[in-house]
Amino acid sequence: MSMETHPLRTSVRDLVEGLCALEQGPITKSCIKEFLVACPVTAQALSPYTFWREGTYTRNLIYRDGLFEVMAICWGPDQKTPVHTHNGQLGWMSVVQGEILTHHYKYVRCSAPENQNVIGMDCLAGAHDVELARLDTVKCSNDGQILTVDKLQTIHQIENADPARAGCVSLHVYSKPIDSCVAFDLEKHLCWRRSLRFYSSEGVVLPD
Ligand SMILES: [Fe+2]
Repeated sequence: MSMETHPLRTSVRDLVEGLCALEQGPITKSCIKEFLVACPVTAQALSPYTFWREGTYTRNLIYRDGLFEVMAICWGPDQKTPVHTHNGQLGWMSVVQGEILTHHYKYVRCSAPENQNVIGMDCLAGAHDVELARLDTVKCSNDGQILTVDKLQTIHQIENADPARAGCVSLHVYSKPIDSCVAFDLEKHLCWRRSLRFYSSEGVVLPD
């Protein structure tokens, strides 16, 4: 940790350097969770990476290498993700501003379960008759809580539920990085592969 940084207000650089140091050993759900609990990042520290947009939440890249991607996601009022999977990847989320709801799901059945027999992604997607079971909902605010995805709990939906209808900011670490995921339409019982884009990278808004 650099000398000028208050130990309770980890800077983004300290966060990235700490994650890179952890790449020397096995990356486990618990070791990264412990690191993030010990190194909370403030909304102020994340402010160079926060951009809100009408109509959709924004994914803002802070750092990416072969093992980790780190991003700030900015949520306007009522903005939410579709229900989606995480490719069996590990992910850690903390809320630095506002109030976020995470709805957890599990896979029950679909028309093409054999599409999951593919290397490097969770599923080819494109099935119909998709059934997921809704499990629980967790409310998260700037309270030090770290929510995770893992190989067992990999399907969820995240939404801005801030009663103040203000902009929310969440910090996400994923390992390994992914460029797409499978999203679900639970009313039509369909799934599809969805590419994941960044609105900004290292504080610079990217062209459309
Ligand atoms: Fe997610």
